[in-house]
Amino acid sequence: MIIVMGVFAVDFVFQTPDIPVWTKTQIGSGFSIGPGGKGSNQAIATARLGAPVEFIAKIGTDHYGAMARGIYQTEGVGTRFLQQSADLPTGSAAIIVHAETRENAIIIVPGAAATLTTGEIAQAADEIGKADAFITQLETPLPLVTHALTIARRAGVRTILNPAPVPEGPVSDELWDIIRLSDILTPNEKEASELTGLPVTNAAEAEAAADALIARGAGAVIITLGEKGALLRHNGETVMVPAVRAGAVVDTTGAGDSFNAGIAVALSEGLALPEALRFACAVAGLKVTRAGAGAGMPKRAEVDALLAQG
Ligand code: RIB
Ligand code: NA
Repeated sequence: MIIVMGVFAVDFVFQTPDIPVWTKTQIGSGFSIGPGGKGSNQAIATARLGAPVEFIAKIGTDHYGAMARGIYQTEGVGTRFLQQSADLPTGSAAIIVHAETRENAIIIVPGAAATLTTGEIAQAADEIGKADAFITQLETPLPLVTHALTIARRAGVRTILNPAPVPEGPVSDELWDIIRLSDILTPNEKEASELTGLPVTNAAEAEAAADALIARGAGAVIITLGEKGALLRHNGETVMVPAVRAGAVVDTTGAGDSFNAGIAVALSEGLALPEALRFACAVAGLKVTRAGAGAGMPKRAEVDALLAQG
């Protein structure tokens, strides 16, 4: 069993040739709606990869909350710890995608998700304590992240922190404490750079940033490097795994989320970290060939087929 805590958000995806500046109106070129939110994406990916999963989160009583529940039922994501706010809306995100480069810029409004409480997280304490892994991100308020990671740590459950997004400004003591509670820390290059203040544009720089994060108390560090693959730093050793190309890149939204689910699932099946890294790179390689964050997550059979090709 894998426990994920985080945010569900409806992704409103706008394709546009250019991003508007304040006071300007931009005519876009495409629009779609689908499930998003880093935690929810990770939970859906985990289920599609074949592992039992419970998702700790909070949604609203609105139409989009109902959409989330429907999706979790179809996907087999456990909702025993899915809370509902009576007055705040379900989380939502504006995803602005550049029509040509496919780069994205995201605004996320957690809504109901920001009002999850420590008491509601504590309801899941027994389940967290029995889990193969606990995974969360930084879309939930940091005190809640600390609370949940502490429950997992005390129970000796492996903790995975996807430090996304990194809060603006200097890294707070609260965030360093959170990093110390993380057995596996999985920033992308930009997040690794924001956390350490170091440039992270290649494998050598990623290794230095990983060491800086390990010096601050992270267990293992995995830095995702986009099309350059991913780097693992653990026990003074480095493993670099190239990105897996599974087709034309359609949508990178949620690629990091798919990667994190891949790590959690592989570890829960007893793989060592380097093998988990290979598995996760294949998962992310498939994800980017599909449109949508939650909707584009690959199924286990597809990942196994891709890995079997060698
Ligand atoms: O990681 C991708 C996700 O980030 C999107 O689905 C969006 O909702 C934001 O949370
Ligand atoms: Na992502």
